[in-house]
Amino acid sequence: MHLYHELDAPELPDADFDRLVHRLRDLEAAYPELATADSPAEQVGGAPSVAFAPVVHEVPMMSLDNAFDIDELRGWAERLERRLGDSIPSFVCELKFDGLALSIRYEDGVLVRAATRGDGTTGEDVTHTVRTIADVPHELPAGAPRVIEVRGEAYMRLSTFAALNKAQEAAGQQAYVNPRNTAAGTIRQKDPEAASQRALSFWPYQLGQVVDGPVLDAHSATFDFLTSISFGVNEHSRVVDTIDDVVAFIEEYAAKRHDLDYEFDGVVIKVDDLETQRVLGSTSRAPRWAIAYKMPPEERATRLIDIPISIGTNGSATPYALLEPVFVGGVTVTNATLHNQDIVAQKDVRPGDMVIVRRAGDVIPEVVGPVLSERDPDSEAWVFPTDCPECHRPLVRPEGAARHRCPFADCPAQVRGRIDHFAQRSAMDIEHFGERTIDLLVSAGLITDVGDVFLLDPQELAQFEGFGETSIENLRAGLESSRTRPLGNVIFALAIPHVGSSNGKVLAKAFGSIEALAAASVEQIAAIDGIGPTIAESVVEWFASDTGTAIVQKLHDGGVRPVAPAVSTLEATLTGKSIVVSGGLANYGRSEAKNAITDRGGKAPGSVSKSTFALVVGNDPGASKVTKAEDLGIPILDEAGFETLLTTGELPA
Ligand code: IVH
Repeated sequence: MHLYHELDAPELPDADFDRLVHRLRDLEAAYPELATADSPAEQVGGAPSVAFAPVVHEVPMMSLDNAFDIDELRGWAERLERRLGDSIPSFVCELKFDGLALSIRYEDGVLVRAATRGDGTTGEDVTHTVRTIADVPHELPAGAPRVIEVRGEAYMRLSTFAALNKAQEAAGQQAYVNPRNTAAGTIRQKDPEAASQRALSFWPYQLGQVVDGPVLDAHSATFDFLTSISFGVNEHSRVVDTIDDVVAFIEEYAAKRHDLDYEFDGVVIKVDDLETQRVLGSTSRAPRWAIAYKMPPEERATRLIDIPISIGTNGSATPYALLEPVFVGGVTVTNATLHNQDIVAQKDVRPGDMVIVRRAGDVIPEVVGPVLSERDPDSEAWVFPTDCPECHRPLVRPEGAARHRCPFADCPAQVRGRIDHFAQRSAMDIEHFGERTIDLLVSAGLITDVGDVFLLDPQELAQFEGFGETSIENLRAGLESSRTRPLGNVIFALAIPHVGSSNGKVLAKAFGSIEALAAASVEQIAAIDGIGPTIAESVVEWFASDTGTAIVQKLHDGGVRPVAPAVSTLEATLTGKSIVVSGGLANYGRSEAKNAITDRGGKAPGSVSKSTFALVVGNDPGASKVTKAEDLGIPILDEAGFETLLTTGELPA
């Protein structure tokens, strides 16, 4: 469950996200009975997957710009007025349903194809599962247009979701995390029978291609038309005349957020008059005539069961809230970080308290504070434990540091953490070497550091239950293909403090081998563009340490032969520039986009900061990245702008 929650938080750096998905795949391979159809491990970014036939949308399925507060919304309305020369349009307010966008195509009144949005240009053919949705007619009444694409949201009703989880529980199966992922997973099921059991619903809200259809003059007329061709439309949409009325609609539905049998995470506001929509037009990403107002983070109260400590890879001891499961902001939350001793003290949360938990649509859950009126009068302030929960030796809090740590590098939690890090996809990418295998090997003392991994005889696995010849051979093959990973991945895999995956690549390019990097001085390393003195010192210190030296030797003895990066023939247009990519691009996968940047000498970190040169947004970018870039005045580019930047190194005019 914990993994799922983290996975639902795109705030994570891409590398961590990849690592979690990788781990989840391992877990699902080891425990197939726990794998769910909506598992994030089954989902590959926004790009269409090869499993379903691609469908090119006749009319692109655009996304919407977001407004995160009322000021932004009013700003949008003012821009419209300026563009329209002060004529004030009417608006349609609709709920922003939280599900999966679909385009359903009818020809001569018969459903011929249903597709997901995909990257907006090409989606996936999901006709087989969409046919099982009761709200989607298979045939339209006589007189329907020759061709019509009905667009809308597939979703799961909360009552359906609750019943589904009740059945899962009764069957001793893992609960589904949230209605949205379950709906998305159901649509992308292979088996229509299984999909039909999940009883999805559908709200139409837009038309795509229409041939020989009625001439409509307003978006609101679309709803009457949809009704006339036997679609059920959502009863909560409303035409209003002013932006003040829009604000009133938002307030009304913010208060009703939990009164409906389905989730909505905002309000979509569209200019009603279709001619005005045409005048306003679209940017490459989204129409100017519509905006999505995102409702602020949700808060819920739940019981704080305990405050355990988790030990990180580098020994950091982090307290976290173990919570009675609570459904907030679209996911079931069972734990939330409490960061460190001072934060727990400042929030003064105590085991047994009722606490307020907050979660914005896409960020990690947070404990806001206790509900003091419900506190047990005998409760006492929580005290930080003195001993490491994993190795039972004393924790320390270094002078001036915010965090406690377990200072023992041989603490099993740290050993496991380093090996997990080492094996993850963006590092050594060792297949068939999942968390369970690692736990067993570390507990049995067969592996004590990452250097032991390639010295391990996979035959040792035979002593553990559930490991037959196949798993042993799989691991042998997994290790073999990992011996020749790119040098940048290997450097990252070593878990040298401050060296992330992007710095690993920069160092690989600059030095070309582990030996050359190990022999470099602080000055030589710090002289590399993009590498600061902290990183340089950390690298030198690591290679000079006994642990570092031993690991390098063991990796060599274990047959690890990193592959040096090819010298890039591309022009270094982005030297010294840091570019953040968020959301799905049409022509670049997640790592392709990063490589396109680093191959040209740039850096591609996972988060926006004041040193970011530009933020590139694709479909469904991380909302907080966009807001942060806007706050810091950092240029925001679409994919076309990104292409210009790659070739010229300059922002598009
Ligand atoms: S209209 C060009 N209306 O929000 C306009 N979208 O952030 C296309 N959504 O991909 C979308 N409720 O999945 C529209 N009432 C509504 C919506 C809605 C939910 C989703 C839809 C879209 C996403 C854009």
